[in-house]
Amino acid sequence: MKPPARGRAAGKVILLGEHAVVYGRPALAAGLPLCLEAEVGAGEGPARLESDRHADDARVARLIAEAAAAVGLEPRGFVVRVRSDVPAGVGVGSSAALAVAVLRALAAAAGRRLVRDDELEVATRLESIFHGHPSGIDPVAAALGGCFRFVRGAPPTITPLRLAVPLPLVIAFGARPRSTGAAVMGLRARWEAERPRYEALFDAVAATVEDGTRAAEAGDLAALGRAFDQNQALLEALGVSAPEVEALVARARAAGALGAKLTGGGAGGAVVAVAPEPERLAAALGADGMRTIVAQVGAAAEEAA
Ligand code: MEV
Repeated sequence: MKPPARGRAAGKVILLGEHAVVYGRPALAAGLPLCLEAEVGAGEGPARLESDRHADDARVARLIAEAAAAVGLEPRGFVVRVRSDVPAGVGVGSSAALAVAVLRALAAAAGRRLVRDDELEVATRLESIFHGHPSGIDPVAAALGGCFRFVRGAPPTITPLRLAVPLPLVIAFGARPRSTGAAVMGLRARWEAERPRYEALFDAVAATVEDGTRAAEAGDLAALGRAFDQNQALLEALGVSAPEVEALVARARAAGALGAKLTGGGAGGAVVAVAPEPERLAAALGADGMRTIVAQVGAAAEEAA
């Protein structure tokens, strides 16, 4: 009997540089120990998705059709079943994880394995179904995991970080799901209306990414925390933060974080904090009713599949 065709991908956390990365600035991100798995089974008629996290809507139908075309399959006669512990709509990369895992599962069903750059190129195209101007950073984290510096391009420049120590992070999830697409489009409209102001803000974000990268590599958690705080202030100036994010960031700092900021698309969603005692911080935020995870982000990019 043929084994079922499966593909897996990870959730992601952007440490520094979201949004500015869309405009060519560097960013720092990592895979999370959260997993999404897609499995292809036999089905009748047009291909469809079964998932308790993702609606089988027109965008998902397009994702399946385009992923199938990329590996030479007809988009009919199968079902893609998804199991996921990556929360959707909070900025930890559920759309990219879905794109990478579905693409890998369909490639396996077609008896193919895409090489890394092809896989990332197709997955970034698939991600643009969910938001129109993806930098491609989310599919890289979903596909490769580990901690890396990223600059967009065709192909992107991906530099795994050499970390002195794993980075002790807490991710706290906001209660209100929000749309990365809306945040990215809103910023694009503001950038088009006032380019010099936004380009200067993106340059300032790039400087915090460089500071934070050096701090992460040296294991200087206090300096990494300062870079998080500076990046959060710039994200507020870019107009992609939200009052509930700022309240959560303040709460994390008061409870022992060395720095905290929104992560991903923003406008609500998740917050990432660096803390010397991440379990204690997670417990303090958990006592306030927040859902949290602790992630010790590792040194090298590794295959999540
Ligand atoms: C979304 O996780 C990160 C953004 O920078 C968009 C992107 O890079 O594609 C907001």
